[in-house]
Amino acid sequence: MAIKKTPADPTNPASEEAALEDFKEEVGFEIRVTIESVEDIVVARQEGRALVQSLGFSTTQATLIATAISELARNIVLYAITGEIILSKTVNGHQVGIVIIAKDHGPGIPDLKHALMSGYTTSGGLGLGLPGVKQIMNSFDIQSEPGKGTIVTTVMWL
Ligand SMILES: Nc1ncnc2c1ncn2[C@@H]1O[C@H](COP(=O)(O)OP(=O)(O)OP(=O)(O)O)[C@@H](O)[C@H]1O
Ligand SMILES: [Mg+2]
Repeated sequence: MAIKKTPADPTNPASEEAALEDFKEEVGFEIRVTIESVEDIVVARQEGRALVQSLGFSTTQATLIATAISELARNIVLYAITGEIILSKTVNGHQVGIVIIAKDHGPGIPDLKHALMSGYTTSGGLGLGLPGVKQIMNSFDIQSEPGKGTIVTTVMWL
């Protein structure tokens, strides 16, 4: 497991916290969590919750966002074994949002249309993860290529 918060000055670890605060004010701020175990799902969830609460999202919204992050990270562990969750702030005029990117180089999804339907599962799950994330978030994009991997990009605005 690895969490990388960028950008920070690698030559000055003491400045990291201060740098983090500064960069939360900028669009370039980004948190990367490597996903390869169930523990990493919890870390990604916690990082997402902390980030959105620092941006001013309500507890209810933070819980929904944490749920979306969990579902995407759970899919990575289950289907792709390893991958990455990238969390960042986005700004559109005066609007602030969170971007969640879930990225893996796993088997990909051959039938995207079905994968987005409630109840479609290849693992005996509920098949509610992806449709749930799509419903929770304000925007949802999925790119997947069999044999290459999957990238989900999703945004929620404050
Ligand atoms: N990252 C991924 N890589 C490969 N296949 C995936 C990935 N994410 C989802 N899938 C495929 O899409 C299907 C639907 O995913 P979804 O999360 O909606 O449901 P589920 O994981 O089967 O069940 P649930 O999430 O409700 O426990 C999965 O069963 C799987 O076949
Ligand atoms: Mg799932």
